[in-house]
Amino acid sequence: MVAGPTASGDLLTEIAPLVISAPFGNYVQHPGTTPTLGTYTWQRRGGRIAAMGRAALTVRYYRRLGAWVNRIGLRNPGIHSLDHQIPGARPIAESIVSVHGFSPEDWFQLLSVTAAARPAAIELNISCPNVGEISWPPELFSEAVATGIPIIVKIPPVRYAQLATDAFSGGVRHIHAVNTLPVRGGGMSGAPLKPIGLSVVQRLRDEFGPELGIIAGGGIRTAADVHEYAQAGADRFAIGTLAMRPSAPFSEKFLAEVRRAASDALSGSTGRVPTPLPRD
Ligand SMILES: Cc1cc2nc3c(=O)[nH]c(=O)nc-3n(C[C@H](O)[C@H](O)[C@H](O)COP(=O)(O)O)c2cc1C
Repeated sequence: MVAGPTASGDLLTEIAPLVISAPFGNYVQHPGTTPTLGTYTWQRRGGRIAAMGRAALTVRYYRRLGAWVNRIGLRNPGIHSLDHQIPGARPIAESIVSVHGFSPEDWFQLLSVTAAARPAAIELNISCPNVGEISWPPELFSEAVATGIPIIVKIPPVRYAQLATDAFSGGVRHIHAVNTLPVRGGGMSGAPLKPIGLSVVQRLRDEFGPELGIIAGGGIRTAADVHEYAQAGADRFAIGTLAMRPSAPFSEKFLAEVRRAASDALSGSTGRVPTPLPRD
């Protein structure tokens, strides 16, 4: 088990049992869930409308596999649009804000602007397969923890071991596992990601023990999927492509089953009793 600085106390009660992953949390914000806004970069990369257009053009569904492959590459209106949330949107204090930097300056500026907005947590997205080489300064994790806002690191389903160790050693106590799987043509999500996500979650739990809060996602569509992730050691549950449907912002029917299963898992009425997420 990896040793790291001691996590300091309070419970991360702000994070609901069911998390809506980025970018879907930008517009799917139903009660009883915590939306993830972003992923924001320092500069705008095409804006919200362009992002939707590019999503339509670059997302492919492989019916036989139940898999989606996208190569959107973090289209977003830039971190400064965080000040201009859509009227009626959930307050930032109830949301996770996801960020990605292309240089050390980007990362530190993103941290500073995002922390000032006081979200429920900041998610460092260091796992998007569609933006080329991903890098971050060695002190990113400790600097992020020093903001006092709970920090989540979102990891890829491959080559994550050193990254998770570095994040934990830097004081990070929450990991979102996993982002899409890099494949030819982009990042794969949906059903085939689940066995990989499960093994990553199990391995993180074995390695870091109860001190690490794990937000688990990858192929969650049903209560049974939530149950499997709970058994593997997840503390919270995240959906992405399940929310990729035109009606998702308006009707919560599609997530009712997984939301209930996630609450049950947290209250201990099914499977393993997940630990509450501690604050960094
Ligand atoms: C079209 C599309 C765009 C995505 N964009 C982002 C993103 O901007 N930031 C991020 O952290 N993850 C992004 N993801 C990954 C999802 O948040 C999620 O981690 C992944 O799809 C696995 O979960 P799922 O199988 O439930 O979809 C994207 C996924 C898809 C399908």
